[in-house]
Amino acid sequence: MLILGIESSCDETAASVVEDCTVLRSSVIASQAMEHRQYGGVVPELASRRHCENILAVTRQALQEADVAPEALDGIAVTHMPGLIGALLVGVDFAKGLAFSMGKPLIPVHHIAGHIAANYLAHPGLRPPYLCLVVSGGHTLLTEVTDHTTFRVLGTTRDDAAGECFDKCARVLGYPYPGGVQIDRAAQQGDHRKYPLPRPRVAGSELDMSFSGLKTAVINTVHHARQVQEEIDAPSMAASLQHTVAEILTEKTELVAAQTGHRVIAMAGGVSANSGLRAAMSSMCEKHGYTLYMPPLSLCGDNAAMIACQGSYNFLAGITADESLNAYASGQGALSPCGMR
Ligand code: KG4
Ligand code: ZN
Repeated sequence: MLILGIESSCDETAASVVEDCTVLRSSVIASQAMEHRQYGGVVPELASRRHCENILAVTRQALQEADVAPEALDGIAVTHMPGLIGALLVGVDFAKGLAFSMGKPLIPVHHIAGHIAANYLAHPGLRPPYLCLVVSGGHTLLTEVTDHTTFRVLGTTRDDAAGECFDKCARVLGYPYPGGVQIDRAAQQGDHRKYPLPRPRVAGSELDMSFSGLKTAVINTVHHARQVQEEIDAPSMAASLQHTVAEILTEKTELVAAQTGHRVIAMAGGVSANSGLRAAMSSMCEKHGYTLYMPPLSLCGDNAAMIACQGSYNFLAGITADESLNAYASGQGALSPCGMR
């Protein structure tokens, strides 16, 4: 079974061919990050325009590198939620046109389900059920992966995603977009005890998280230092932030694992590349004897291999779309055809 995956939810235009769910035949990513850097973040209209320009060439390259003729495909999978709406629409419309012209099934994929599926490409031994911590620029949640296409969200951020918190704090510290990886690098030179940061609690829920208070605390500390003309030790602030985020995420995961009895834990999303988080999760899992799966760094960020992989499982479960498939900016809720609720 050969599935083409297409991803355009944010600032990466990507296409990939995956064989039999987990065998990666090709993965092409055209990143716009350097272009958006001059604006300090993703400019949605610019992202849509670049997707529009690049999507055909990226798809052609993915087919060529996989050595697969379009006729040989069994289906075309595409991210249809969540993400920047204009960006998503480019991918959805393109996939729809391709599926129609080739007479192939069209397979909708939830971006977050795709991030989780990145683990199957790297770890073919991983099988549901398990617990997954999803941490990206737009989402932070803890979900039970009941089977390959069914998810039960157990805890989520009430405000900012962890990636958003990293990116905004990086910006105020003077690091360029995308800031998460810059915080990670800078943190290696800093002292995480130098700036004690708050650990926001969420009223009424043990499992939900909050990152906006943490973000505000970092921004206020930096602004205050500037006002009184004190120098901020940026690497130590980066280390303090990374340490605090990693601790919050690891503690929540530990709690959910204890409550649900899951002993297999996975991580997914751009922030799962963070070295401090990977280390904290590894030692927590080692302490309890849990098995931990993490995507390799190459599959943490946005890519289309994860969409092709999840698309393969959706296809096997009979989740396909008709010609009225639409894109949705926000992705949690009953709208999801693969049950992300
Ligand atoms: O999953 P992703 O590529 O896109 C979304 O679906 O949002 O995640 C992007 C996020 C950004 O906030 C980026 O700064 C963050 O992942 N990120 C990191 C690291 N690498 C990427 N955050 C912390 N440490 C990293 N090493
Ligand atoms: Zn993503």
